[in-house]
Amino acid sequence: MKKSKRVKKSNTWKIKQHRDQFFKKSKTLGYRSRAAFKLIELNNRYKFIKRNSNLLDLGSSPGSWAQVASKLVKGGKILSIDIKEMKPIPNVSFLKCDFMDPKTKDKIIFFFKGNLDVIISDMAADTTGNRSLDSIRTNQLCAELINFSSKVLKQKGIFVSKLFMGEDFIEVKNLAKSLYKKVNFFKPESSRKESKETYIHCEILKTL
Ligand SMILES: C[S@@+](CC[C@H](N)C(=O)[O-])C[C@H]1O[C@@H](n2cnc3c(N)ncnc32)[C@H](O)[C@@H]1O
Repeated sequence: MKKSKRVKKSNTWKIKQHRDQFFKKSKTLGYRSRAAFKLIELNNRYKFIKRNSNLLDLGSSPGSWAQVASKLVKGGKILSIDIKEMKPIPNVSFLKCDFMDPKTKDKIIFFFKGNLDVIISDMAADTTGNRSLDSIRTNQLCAELINFSSKVLKQKGIFVSKLFMGEDFIEVKNLAKSLYKKVNFFKPESSRKESKETYIHCEILKTL
């Protein structure tokens, strides 16, 4: 076998092993998807989900982030939103709607009534087969949410979202830096190494 073919085969094996490891762990622990471990790692790193947090979870289906949040939040409210259906989770309210629809934003504002501590988003646009386009569409969702977060979060609020290290990454980063005092990036171990996915963590809104 040629060297390039051997390297490709070994990389495919590593990717499969990585997926299987978190897939098996999620089944054992009762999570709906291996994405649960990304939120667990993010929260271990930045410790933003508190007992009394009021938390908005966007791009929530099938619901593993909501499962993690539901275990940690005891005194606050959790609202999960997705365009796809999500089966019920204790202590989690769910709305099936598109975040980009202005009516959804009104519903979020009505639900939290000015008392929102944390926004987490794992929203990813549907894949088209064109990686660069997919990354741009997901980053647009992230940018829209950064702008929205600055209007609805408390001043000391926390914003965490998926985004891709694509061509518009710097634009999204600069937008976040214009609105938040602290902006960090973190790629969880449970996120596939070969994927350009990363997570942005922002805290404390600037008073403009
Ligand atoms: C990677 S999945 C999220 C996995 C989820 N965090 C979990 O732990 O189960 C991305 C989700 O984003 C949702 N999504 C994409 N665009 C959206 C939009 N405009 N509004 C709401 N949800 C959206 C998709 O329907 C999909 O379920």
